[in-house]
Amino acid sequence: MSSSSSPVNPVEETFYITTPIYYVNARPHLGHAYSTIVCDAVARRKRSQGIATWFLTGTDEHGQKIERSAAKAGKTPAEFAAAISNEFRSLWDRMGLTYDDFIRTTEPRHKQGVQKLFAVLKQKGFIYKGSYTGQYCVSDETFVEVGPGQPCPDCGRITETISEENYFFKLSAFERRLLEHYEAHPEFIQPEARRNEVIAFVRGGLKDLSVSRTSFSWGIPVPGDEKHVIYVWMDALANYMTALGYGSDAPGDQEQLKRFWPANVHLVGKEIIRFHCVYWPAFLMAAGLPVPKSVIANGWLLFDKSKMSKSVGNIVRAETVLEVLGADALRYFLLREISFGHDGNFTFEALVQRYNSDLANGYGNLVSRVVNMMHKYFGGVLPAAGSLGTAEESIHAQAARTVTDFHAQFDAMDFSRALETLWALVAAVDGYLTAAAPWKKREGVSDGEHAAAQARVLATAAEAIRIITALAHPILPESAAKVWRQLGVGEIEQAARQGEFKAVAWGGLQPGTVFEAPAPLFPRAEKDAVERMQNLENDNNASAVNAASGGVEKSPSESPSLSESRAEPSGTKTVPIKEPDVVPAPEPAVVVPKPESKDAASYGAVAAAPAAAAETPAASAVEGIAQIGIEDFTKVELRVAQILVAERIPKADKLLRLEVDLGYEKRQILAGIAQYYEPEKLIGRKVVIVANLASRKMRGLESNGMLLAASIGEQGAPVLAGFLEDVPIGARLK
Ligand code: MSP
Repeated sequence: MSSSSSPVNPVEETFYITTPIYYVNARPHLGHAYSTIVCDAVARRKRSQGIATWFLTGTDEHGQKIERSAAKAGKTPAEFAAAISNEFRSLWDRMGLTYDDFIRTTEPRHKQGVQKLFAVLKQKGFIYKGSYTGQYCVSDETFVEVGPGQPCPDCGRITETISEENYFFKLSAFERRLLEHYEAHPEFIQPEARRNEVIAFVRGGLKDLSVSRTSFSWGIPVPGDEKHVIYVWMDALANYMTALGYGSDAPGDQEQLKRFWPANVHLVGKEIIRFHCVYWPAFLMAAGLPVPKSVIANGWLLFDKSKMSKSVGNIVRAETVLEVLGADALRYFLLREISFGHDGNFTFEALVQRYNSDLANGYGNLVSRVVNMMHKYFGGVLPAAGSLGTAEESIHAQAARTVTDFHAQFDAMDFSRALETLWALVAAVDGYLTAAAPWKKREGVSDGEHAAAQARVLATAAEAIRIITALAHPILPESAAKVWRQLGVGEIEQAARQGEFKAVAWGGLQPGTVFEAPAPLFPRAEKDAVERMQNLENDNNASAVNAASGGVEKSPSESPSLSESRAEPSGTKTVPIKEPDVVPAPEPAVVVPKPESKDAASYGAVAAAPAAAAETPAASAVEGIAQIGIEDFTKVELRVAQILVAERIPKADKLLRLEVDLGYEKRQILAGIAQYYEPEKLIGRKVVIVANLASRKMRGLESNGMLLAASIGEQGAPVLAGFLEDVPIGARLK
């Protein structure tokens, strides 16, 4: 490894890669694991090439979203954040992820770095205090550019006129510099589609950005003006430098910063590219610091066709896959199946199929055949290959091509193609072995000739396996370590750390090497593997639902959207931060459309049984209404809410706009009950709502939930569900 003190190679080659830091309002799921696995694979590969590598991950713990989730769980934000952060870290450890540092934004080292950044920007004149009056959307915690009394263009809720004193960052001053930077460094934003998106955004004009808030306190105080907390994205983005010691006076920390900053790669989800490619470089330019070399966006992991996320309710936990198939299977699947940069579907079926075909029957089977034969025919001691024939030459040639192509494809983050290339070599060696059939003595061949053929074939296959394993190691670290031992070449981690894989070339296995006993690598997944994983998920969902009635263990809801925690006052002076790309919402489980109603808005967001079913109780078992299991029912979050505001919507004679209080949050629901209920009479009434229904827009207004009602008579008149006893708001119906 090169070193900064080496006279021969004075410039040390370093590589710094980061994951986004994960919000602690939701437990880790496969979507989070995906980004972290990608970074881990890249970091492992860089290390194995002898490059001094630093891999950072961590958790993003401030902001209103976390504050609310904690309140909902009956914990302090600090306790709440610590518990979930710990879950992320333990899971990463269980998966064997080789992060070098795990930063939490609640750590003192981070706080001091963020405050320093703020102070530097202020001192350099890029942060100023301004008071601002505009239309404020309480739900999104953001100023929006609409007239007084108008609804929020993002969520449709009515805005209020508010004056707030804030600190602003002069983002508008960086428009040209940013565009010049994108131009001069095309590799800064990858892939191309994201680059174009960011360029178009900046060309559209940048406004100054509010970088402080006073309406909540769970954040890092503005130095010298503690009633303000620093804008949560400024806080979060700074982690990439505070983790290296930015803001610290300790001399060792400065070394780290010098050694690894600027980062080579910030790997981020595509929905947060703008924060990383506009705000972050602008903050750094303003502070006089170098900007990262590249920001690379991964696509989303989809499950049931929607982005896997807690709020959509379609998450799969990494633990489930680890338990049934192991960490390597998950790593292989995610990198092989998803074309990096694009969205990709996760299904248990596809996972098991890939596992069986590529790992159990492919690579695992090849290794087991060769190691077994080596023991059977050569007592586990590698013979010399002897003179080679055309079949061996062809394997050599393919192996050499594979090394070159794999390197290029992996380095271009095209993991799927890289693995495809590598597995073509697995198939070729497998085919070669089958054709050569070293277990079969051909007629007319002497014992000596047969032994020579066996030696040639097995030595060739074993060397090919060594090459495949060296290349696959960053993706299949656990299994590669086992194979390395079976090949009798020791510990692969050590070989990797010593930079042995810098140049992978034919001829690494020396005759006389003593193989270890064969050991199973990827036991074939049986038919029930899919079912076992599904059951594990269902059990987990059921226990999360049970716990959700109020325990510390409950999974916090993500329902306060990104815009609630991350939106900043943004009006004529500021840039509104958009919600991440809208995720197609799944069909709500309990909406049974009224048969005669064609217009969705005519019924609005009211769930009711169809008229026929309601009239005849026995009809609830009519054909056409599928039976569901308890696990389906538990997916629906029904809660008691109190109506605070009810009003008609101009030009929508069937819809009422309601604001309801769930105890832990207030939200807007549009309900198609205007023809049956006087709005004034609804105020104060307790109703039952479907609380986890994906939001949707009607008449330009957002509806976040649905009222439950019986549907009566031919017209399907709604009668709102209620209780005889007094029930507290927020109570869950189960
Ligand atoms: N805390 C911010 C990031 C701040 S970085 C300075 C955040 N956190 S997050 O927990 O919501 O998301 C973290 C990362 O996980 C994002 O890159 C996001 O894209 C990724 N993923 C979350 N769900 C995902 C999928 N279903 N699929 C792929 N990645 C996903 O944003």
